[in-house]
Amino acid sequence: MFTSIAPRYDLLNHVLSFNVDRLWWRRAARTFSVTLSRADACALDLCCGTGDMTLALYRQSRKSGAKILGADFSHAMLQRASRKSAGTSLRWLEADALNLPFAHSSFDLITAAFGFRNLADYDAGLREIVRVLRPGGECGILDFGNPQGLLGGLYRVYFKRVLPVVGTLISGVRGPYAYLPASVERFPDPEELLPRMRSAGFQEASWTPYTFGIAGLYRGRK
Ligand SMILES: C[S@@+](CC[C@H](N)C(=O)[O-])C[C@H]1O[C@@H](n2cnc3c(N)ncnc32)[C@H](O)[C@@H]1O
Repeated sequence: MFTSIAPRYDLLNHVLSFNVDRLWWRRAARTFSVTLSRADACALDLCCGTGDMTLALYRQSRKSGAKILGADFSHAMLQRASRKSAGTSLRWLEADALNLPFAHSSFDLITAAFGFRNLADYDAGLREIVRVLRPGGECGILDFGNPQGLLGGLYRVYFKRVLPVVGTLISGVRGPYAYLPASVERFPDPEELLPRMRSAGFQEASWTPYTFGIAGLYRGRK
């Protein structure tokens, strides 16, 4: 599904989010500025797609020398990420977030932007993140939320009625942009996901809403 929309993925992201996606990636990356400023840090961006979150981490690192790696299971997405990051030290890897090809305690930071929600098993995904994080390492999961009130109502009309039509028209592919609202609906709220993060092995877990809760950042420390 993701491979089929890869050619128009960036354009659609920016159009459908009115460019707010860029602010979200940047804000999430800023949260981890202390880790990213360390020359010996290792960071992994899971479900990296065409690499915008990974590039935000790289810019935030201010070329500290921190090693930053993007991983995704869609080859087509990674090809785009690789092209966009020419001239940087970023590295890309084809890998399944549920079965990562890394030893225990390999990373200081793991992020996932708008990808974790797509995993077939959230608890297995959390356990795999905890496994490859170093003790004290941090995780940031940026994903859509479920805003409340009048804004929430308006947002749901946009998300369920307008976005699937525009997404299908621009991508030329039926399916993925109808799947998006459904996947957000099945994604647990913070009240449910935070205890699941603690059960998976995070010592600390928190959620920060972005743009009235349209999106939000889950943060966990191993
Ligand atoms: C909505 S895109 C998000 C891409 C990017 N992080 C962003 O913020 O634009 C979701 C990505 O997750 C990837 N993905 C979904 N499930 C995955 C899994 N189990 N392992 C690796 N990548 C996965 C898809 O291939 C896709 O590129």
